[in-house]
Amino acid sequence: MPATAVLGVQWGDEGKGRVTDFFSENADYVVRYQGGNNAGHTIIVGEQRLALSLIPSGVMYPQVTPVIASGMVVDPKVLLAEIDMLTAKGIDTARLKISSNAHLIMPYHRKLDAVMERFLGRSQIGTTKKGIGPAYTDKFARQGIRVQDLFDPKIFREKLEIALEDKNKILSRVYNQLPIEAAPIAEEYLAYAERLLPLVTDTSLLLWQAIRDGKEVIFEGAQGTLLDIDHGTYPFVTSSSPTVGGVLTGVGIGPKDIHRVVGIAKAYISRVGTGPFPTELRDEIGDRMVEIGGEFGTVTGRRRRCGWLDLVALRYAVRVNGLTDLFLTKLDVLSHFDTLKVAVGYTSLGERYDEFPRQQRVLYNCTPVYEELPGWSTDISHIRAYGELPAEARNYIEYIEEAVQVPIRWISVGPERQQLVERP
Ligand code: GDP
Ligand code: IMO
Ligand code: MG
Repeated sequence: MPATAVLGVQWGDEGKGRVTDFFSENADYVVRYQGGNNAGHTIIVGEQRLALSLIPSGVMYPQVTPVIASGMVVDPKVLLAEIDMLTAKGIDTARLKISSNAHLIMPYHRKLDAVMERFLGRSQIGTTKKGIGPAYTDKFARQGIRVQDLFDPKIFREKLEIALEDKNKILSRVYNQLPIEAAPIAEEYLAYAERLLPLVTDTSLLLWQAIRDGKEVIFEGAQGTLLDIDHGTYPFVTSSSPTVGGVLTGVGIGPKDIHRVVGIAKAYISRVGTGPFPTELRDEIGDRMVEIGGEFGTVTGRRRRCGWLDLVALRYAVRVNGLTDLFLTKLDVLSHFDTLKVAVGYTSLGERYDEFPRQQRVLYNCTPVYEELPGWSTDISHIRAYGELPAEARNYIEYIEEAVQVPIRWISVGPERQQLVERP
């Protein structure tokens, strides 16, 4: 049975946690393929609220094997703390599998992330400061240290020495920081090895076999299409590939093994950190979206910038991911607005754009061309059947579908697992 990818199509925080949890009910494997603990995925089931950063969002289901694939960057301290947090809540993590090829986030990656941002001043990206960018930089520079290196202390120490020689020059000479010592890092990291060893395996082989055996496999994206290193709003992006291509490289499977690509879109849009955002609302309406939608970062607690749904960006995401279906989240938040706007095009520097602009200068100067749609101004959070949604809400959904030519098969109307409308 080929697998399903579920991924964010905006600037992250679309509701990937809750959507992945929904798809996990019948799944055998749920796999994170990129990113690290820059992600914050929330799941709410009754009184239980989980915020996951590294462990896939299928972990609440006892039949699910959660997998951390090769394309991820893993901070082992954070991972072990997350395992402990889940265990304390009575959630079993014994089935967790970690790729031996995943890269480790090291203390100097976190340090560099922080000082590089400080150095950029007003031009900073607004990263999560978890060391994501520097860890991926080392991976591509072939100076990374991988999960498998933890189990070979001699190699680990050697690689650490080499990495630190380089990092300490940068830290001290460029950023005026004290150098970092190898010994305490080696001691700390090698101590993690014992707990991690039983979880580490060849996840590419594991998942290839699972798909051949007819198992149900879900790939869970982190971040979103507009934060993609190649296809996002560079340089205000993350350092990995949340788009569907990232599944193939991050897991090590072929394209034929993915039969469904579900895009997750919030019914409006948000962004944390800096960078262009054409439909951003820097007014009282934006403030109300933040307040009603509870738009504060799961990882950093930062206020998210909010704005109207952008159909230009959504059509772009449909294209670069080859989306087969859409899952629209947080529709309930729009119940509080009389009139809704959606961006159907942009004008920038005297020209009209119907496709997502490639030039950053064009993108920065975009003014959205809006279409106005009537709101429904009534609580929809209790509704579970499509036909029971107010006509204006159905009109909003069907308008988006028509504009992007992809069916919206699921709509969430509240953060709880059950607050969901499935289209027939
Ligand atoms: P992720 O990073 O894509 O998993 O999203 P986050 O978990 O960072 O942010 C989404 C937030 O919206 C979380 O607090 C969710 O509990 C919440 N949420 C998810 N779906 C809905 C919904 O349909 N309605 C409302 N009101 N909140 C939702
Ligand atoms: P989830 O998976 C929203 C943003 C940061 C910053 C940029 C680069 O919860 O949707 P990084 O630390 O990755 O180098 O930061 O990317 N960012 C996210 N924004 N949701 C996320 O994850 C994000 N992960 C990174 O705010 O602008
Ligand atoms: Mg999040």
